[in-house]
Amino acid sequence: MGDVVRVGLLGCGNVGAAVARMLHEHGEEIARRAGTAIEVTRVAVRDLEKPRDVPVPPGLFTDDPYDVVRDRDVDVVVEVMGGIEPARSLILEAFRQGKPVVTANKELLATLSRELFESAAAGRVDLLYEAAVGGGIPLIRPLREHLAGDRILRFMGIVNGTTNYILTRMTEDGWSLGQALADAQRLGYAAAAKAAILAPIAFDLRVAAGDVYREGILSISPDDIRFAKQLGYVVKLLAIAEGIGDEVSVRVHPAMIPAGHPLASVRESFNAVYIEGQRVGPLMLYGRGAGGDPTATSVVGDVIELARSRPGGGANSLIGHAAHTGGPSELTPRRLRPIEEMQAQYYMLMRVADRPGVLAAIALVFAEHMVSIKSVWQEGHAEEAQIVLVTHQAQERDLRACLQGLRMIDTVKSVSSVIRVVDGEP
Ligand SMILES: NC(=O)c1ccc[n+]([C@@H]2O[C@H](COP(=O)([O-])OP(=O)(O)OC[C@H]3O[C@@H](n4cnc5c(N)ncnc54)[C@H](OP(=O)(O)O)[C@@H]3O)[C@@H](O)[C@H]2O)c1
Repeated sequence: MGDVVRVGLLGCGNVGAAVARMLHEHGEEIARRAGTAIEVTRVAVRDLEKPRDVPVPPGLFTDDPYDVVRDRDVDVVVEVMGGIEPARSLILEAFRQGKPVVTANKELLATLSRELFESAAAGRVDLLYEAAVGGGIPLIRPLREHLAGDRILRFMGIVNGTTNYILTRMTEDGWSLGQALADAQRLGYAAAAKAAILAPIAFDLRVAAGDVYREGILSISPDDIRFAKQLGYVVKLLAIAEGIGDEVSVRVHPAMIPAGHPLASVRESFNAVYIEGQRVGPLMLYGRGAGGDPTATSVVGDVIELARSRPGGGANSLIGHAAHTGGPSELTPRRLRPIEEMQAQYYMLMRVADRPGVLAAIALVFAEHMVSIKSVWQEGHAEEAQIVLVTHQAQERDLRACLQGLRMIDTVKSVSSVIRVVDGEP
């Protein structure tokens, strides 16, 4: 690299344009803090005709992204185009050219991290990806650096702004899901991808997004939200990773959390990750999990880190990623704990025919499956009766068997919801 760090942008959409603007508009501060000027010298886009509000001369644009990666006037490649291909091949080519890469691409990292990290290691270059989880919220670096000396016991994240916004509207304005969430499945997957990126750093465990157990918020009804309130809970979609001995549970599902829990105060489209360390105790990182400018802040922070570390030969970004690169942590591999082996409290909502003996029949099924009931109450009567029930800690496998038993009872018309209660018992 020369005196100026020259950035090649792959993509100039929401994030890429915000990166170009930030590097230009904050140029003086960035140069002071990075110890060198940082400039955009090449930009790849799909459509050269599209009007763009960025302080980059038109002559620097190309519609061939390999022009950027192979350009001698590019020191750092910033991949903000998204998707698997051609982003993957372009990043691998950048490594072959000896260029470090900054990416915001969660999809790519959650599915192909091992290949990417191994290729970066082979090329002896850095791969930084602060923006890939939590947009503008610093998560990767706090976990990798600040908390590296501690043992992480658990993290729980609200990492999907859209679902959190919908759940906030359901809680505060009585919205029902309706058509608003035809793509809930996709949002659950995006949260799983983010859990799969964070879990390796916190737990030295290799996990791909497809391995993460996930449930979305499609089954959450206005009744669940109302009963949660009565019970003193708030419903959130949580991405959770938790160390349990030699195992780690990584999962995404809706959960009821106590209204006083720090995560309960995360409203609208905000994101947050609540981390519990053995020594540091609880801490929470909160902010805008998406949007061009917040995400660009993380991208530019990574570019500045690369610029600062340049005199020492790089940012050593691959140290601490043994789980990806087949390093020492594989000597003591941690297994993913299947969801059936997890313990939780459960909230359950049933529609029942209000006849004598219905509660006794339900209680019997719970007893047969060793699931202990903490509280139960009934609302309505006759054909409109609903039973709301919260269990003590129980194993998921037992709970599922219990559900099958409940569905065999004539007077139980449906079990309309089962939601895990997190941190509900003292
Ligand atoms: N937006 C957010 O809030 C956010 C937050 C966190 C992470 N991210 C991640 O950041 C990345 C970018 O997101 P974004 O919202 O900025 O996406 P976007 O607005 O759709 O921008 C994508 C850019 O890449 C260009 N591009 C796509 N395919 C290309 C190809 N084959 N060749 C050349 N250029 C190509 C597009 O060109 P044209 O402009 O010509 O179409 C566009 O400029 C994604 O990985 C996303 O997951 C985004």
